[in-house]
Amino acid sequence: GKVRAPTHVVSTICDDRGEEPTYAGVNMTTLFERDYGVGDVLALLWWKRSLPAYCTKFIEMCVMLCADHGPCVSGAHNTIVAARAGKDLVSCLTSGLLTVGPRFGGAVDDAARCFKAARDANLSPHLFVESMKKKGLRVPGIGHRIKSRDNRDSRVLLLQQYARAHFPQVRYLDYAVAVEDYTLSKAANLVLNVDGCIGALFLDLLASCAMFQAHEIDEIVDIGYLNGLFVLARSIGLIGHTFDQKRLKQPLYRHPWEDVLYTKATCIMQSLSP
Ligand code: ACO
Ligand code: LMR
Repeated sequence: GKVRAPTHVVSTICDDRGEEPTYAGVNMTTLFERDYGVGDVLALLWWKRSLPAYCTKFIEMCVMLCADHGPCVSGAHNTIVAARAGKDLVSCLTSGLLTVGPRFGGAVDDAARCFKAARDANLSPHLFVESMKKKGLRVPGIGHRIKSRDNRDSRVLLLQQYARAHFPQVRYLDYAVAVEDYTLSKAANLVLNVDGCIGALFLDLLASCAMFQAHEIDEIVDIGYLNGLFVLARSIGLIGHTFDQKRLKQPLYRHPWEDVLYTKATCIMQSLSP
């Protein structure tokens, strides 16, 4: 009989061989006939399924609300410096994206992992926070440089408001808010940040949407899809910063000496004695 030669690549999310390209089996015409948006396209290409409108609207909210947070944050600063060094768009974008990580924008997956593990184990918020402290770890999704109890992050409030109105349940968000109540009793800047809020709410989305089975939720949390939402969103802003600097014809950036504390450099000499 016929023997299929083994392929070097396996791909399951899309197909460009037919008359029309498809995303998870949905062709381009259908995308527009059904008035699909970016959230629907993301769901097709990331999870190979259509999601209910309350989920795709939430995904689009995450993308819109995380698109930018000013020129001073780590990512935008890197992008601006690269643009002012005359670099091309992709270099400026990736220079900014390279700062996304455990402290900045890349705490979404870890927040989801920690809130899920702690809540599923019925750990009280107090015990959860103290156990992290004992391990010498910061709680992902908690804390902000400029936001605090008296200067709340409106992105976090908007996402919470939406989810409370449209999600069937928000038990992980409730848990994250209880963690925040406890951390705020320690310091005013230990708020639930946008990474933590998205992490908790995505757990609620996955748990409440019939389109995901339990083992798939574990796989999503395990692989770590959610930092991708921040990367996708912030790329919009970083590209904007690149064009802004180029439009403004900004010169090469050099950090001012006055803003650096130069401490005396001492040379450690190699001992001459044997
Ligand atoms: N969990 C526990 N304790 C914390 C946390 C936290 N998440 N954040 C700060 N603290 C405490 C620590 O005791 C810290 O002391 P240490 O430096 O000895 O560990 C003390 O607060 C002082 O911290 P600050 O200087 O006020 O915090 P900073 O401004 O340096 O950090 C940051 C802000 C990086 C966001 C921090 O809170 C953190 O690491 N959070 C967890 C990671 C996270 O969620 N990042 C995403 C932020 S949102 C975004 O980027 C879009
Ligand atoms: C962001 O969205 O970039 C932030 O919340 C981080 C910050 O320092 O503002």
